[in-house]
Amino acid sequence: MAYFPKKLTVKLEKRHQENALRILPSIAQLVDFSSNDYLGFAREKAISDTTFRYLSPSTAPCNGATGSRLLSGNYGLYEELERKLVQVHASEAALVFNSGYDANLGFFASVPQRGDIILFDELIHASIRDGIQMSNAKSFKFSHNNIDSLTKTFHRACSKTVADAVVYVVTESVFSMDGDTPDLQALVDFSNENGCHLVVDEAHAVGVFGTNGAGLIQELGLNEKVFARIITFGKAFGCHGAAVLGSSKLKAYLVNFARSLIYTTGLPPHSIATILAAYDYICSDEGEEKRENLHKTIEKFKQELSNLGLKALFISSNSAIHCCIVPGNQQVKQVALKLQEKGFGVKPILSPTVRKGAERLRFCLHAYNTDAEISEVASHLSYLISGS
Ligand SMILES: Cc1ncc(COP(=O)(O)O)c(C=O)c1O
Repeated sequence: MAYFPKKLTVKLEKRHQENALRILPSIAQLVDFSSNDYLGFAREKAISDTTFRYLSPSTAPCNGATGSRLLSGNYGLYEELERKLVQVHASEAALVFNSGYDANLGFFASVPQRGDIILFDELIHASIRDGIQMSNAKSFKFSHNNIDSLTKTFHRACSKTVADAVVYVVTESVFSMDGDTPDLQALVDFSNENGCHLVVDEAHAVGVFGTNGAGLIQELGLNEKVFARIITFGKAFGCHGAAVLGSSKLKAYLVNFARSLIYTTGLPPHSIATILAAYDYICSDEGEEKRENLHKTIEKFKQELSNLGLKALFISSNSAIHCCIVPGNQQVKQVALKLQEKGFGVKPILSPTVRKGAERLRFCLHAYNTDAEISEVASHLSYLISGS
C-alpha cells in the first residue's frame, strides 16, 4: 500500500477527536430540509423535457464540450444562454463559468491587482476566500453585515495605500451558512460615496427573490450600482454552473485573465441546455407558482418558530435558509441525528465550517415542503431543544 504521510494522518485524527471529521454521506430518503434545490427544479420533469429540445447536433456536440471555451468548447448554446442571462438579469454582459467555485476563484484571483484593496465580510463563502488568497491585492475582513466596521476597515486600509488603488467591497446577498442578508442599499451608498467597487455573490438569492427569480440586487433596483454579481445555477435553478454579471469590459477582462475559465474544459452541452430550460421554466407561470410556494413555506416556518418560542435561537432570515444555533459539534450532531431518526433530513453545520460556539442546524426550505412537514419538524425541534 502507498505510504501516507504521518502529518496528514495526524490532521485527520485531530478532526476525529474534535467531532468534526467530514465523510461523504449516503443519501437517505428523508424529508428534504437540507438540499439547495429550493424550488424543486432538480426533479422537475418539464425542465428535463425542455432540455432535450435544446440539444440538437446543429447547436452543440452530443456529449462533451470538446475543449476550453477559448478553444473548441464555445458551442452556440453558451452564447444563447449568455444572451438570456443578460436579458433576465438586466446586465450589460454575462460570462458563464463551470461552477460558482470556479467563478469566484477566477474573478477574485484575476480582477483585484497588486496595490488594490479587498474589503470582505468575515462570513463570505470559502470560494471567495480561496480566490482572494490567490490575488495579489491586500485583503481585510469587516464584521458580518456591519457598515460601521466596514467604514473603519476602509479608513484603516486606505491610510497605507497607493493613490490609484481600487477598492473592492465583497458580500453575499444571502449568506450561505446564515441565511441572512446585508443592508444592500447601505453597501451601495457606502461604495458610491467612497469610490469602491461592490461585488455581490447572489448564489442563494437567484431563483428565490426578484421578478423571474432574478435576485435580490435586481429586486432592490441596484443592478446598475454594483460592479459585479456572481450567480450560480446549482441551487434554486437545480442544475449546475455559474455566471459573472457585469460590464462588457469586465467580461472581456475575465475571458483574458480568469484562469478557471481559460484552463478548463467547458461544461457539457446537456448542462447548458438544462440551465436554458430552467430559465424558461422560472420565467413561466409555473415557475412563478413554485416561487410563491417557497415563500409560503418560509412564512409558515417562521410562524411555527414564533408559535413555539424558538425564534430567538434562530438567525433572523427571510431567505430559504434558516439556522438554529446549537453550540458544540457533539451537541448539534446529536440533535440533527434525532431529527433524522424522526425522518427529517436536517444537517448539522460544524466548526470549523462555522465559528466554534456557533455550530448550527441548517434548515433549507423548499417549495415542496408541506405545512404538515414544517409543523412536525418544528415541534420535534422544540421538544429536543427545550423539552416541550
Ligand atoms: C455563496 C456561495 N457562493 C458560491 C458557491 C459555489 O457554488 P457552486 O456550488 O456552483 O460551486 C456556493 C456554494 O455552496 C455558495 O454558497
